[in-house]
Amino acid sequence: MQVFLSFLIGCKKPYYKACARNYVFITDNSFYNFFENMKFFIDTANIKEIQEAYDLGVLDGVTTNPSLCAKEGISDFDAFIGEVCDIVQGPVSAEVVSVDYKGMMEEAHRVAKISEHVVVKVPLIKEGIKVIKTLSDEGIKTNCTLCFSPNQALVAAKAGANYISPFVGRLDDISTSGMQLIQEIVDIYGNYDLDTEVLVASIRHPMHMVEAAQMGADVATMPFGVIEKLISHPLTDIGLEKFLADWDKLQKSL
Ligand code: E4P
Repeated sequence: MQVFLSFLIGCKKPYYKACARNYVFITDNSFYNFFENMKFFIDTANIKEIQEAYDLGVLDGVTTNPSLCAKEGISDFDAFIGEVCDIVQGPVSAEVVSVDYKGMMEEAHRVAKISEHVVVKVPLIKEGIKVIKTLSDEGIKTNCTLCFSPNQALVAAKAGANYISPFVGRLDDISTSGMQLIQEIVDIYGNYDLDTEVLVASIRHPMHMVEAAQMGADVATMPFGVIEKLISHPLTDIGLEKFLADWDKLQKSL
């Protein structure tokens, strides 16, 4: 068994998933995630929030999008992406804004030059899939964004996307289960030799994150407010207040 486990650890995720399914009869995702940590990304274009999340010591990467950049009034996009890469030293998604192949490729090559940490974010449209395939062949990392169905996720993975970003909150907004989509994608990717990481996006609250972890999603990207909520609990605050008050009382009585 030990030899078999060492072999699995040495394998790429899809292989050990497949091996485990075929030879050990384990179908629970928690087994596979024994080998890897879930990654935390922050979903923002606010440098202060990125720095604060990074200082916590648990941040693995950053996702941005044109709306988030507009909210922060980012005027020099390339300089902004460079600054974020310098802080985080991990994957930073920079989204293209063209919708044609040539335009997206030009943007992709430009932003990819900013830093080795740049991941080119490409929309899940026909031209985008072609762009992802070309960039994958060139060794440039991609995050395929605006995914709302398992079939879209499968095509993106076949094109060679490094990350797929299913938007759970926006599906919930239209009375469709965002988390069910995550489960479907995790299951489908687990059946094949697909290296694409499932990056749960459009997270609105801590339960999205908890469910994503239970399902074995690779990455969760969250607004700063959700990261803060992951840590806080009213009973922790009440408990700490009582501990400190009792300690204070003890000091005064000595
Ligand atoms: C993902 O990469 C997107 O930037 C983001 O998660 C979208 O979230 P929203 O639906 O809250 O705008």
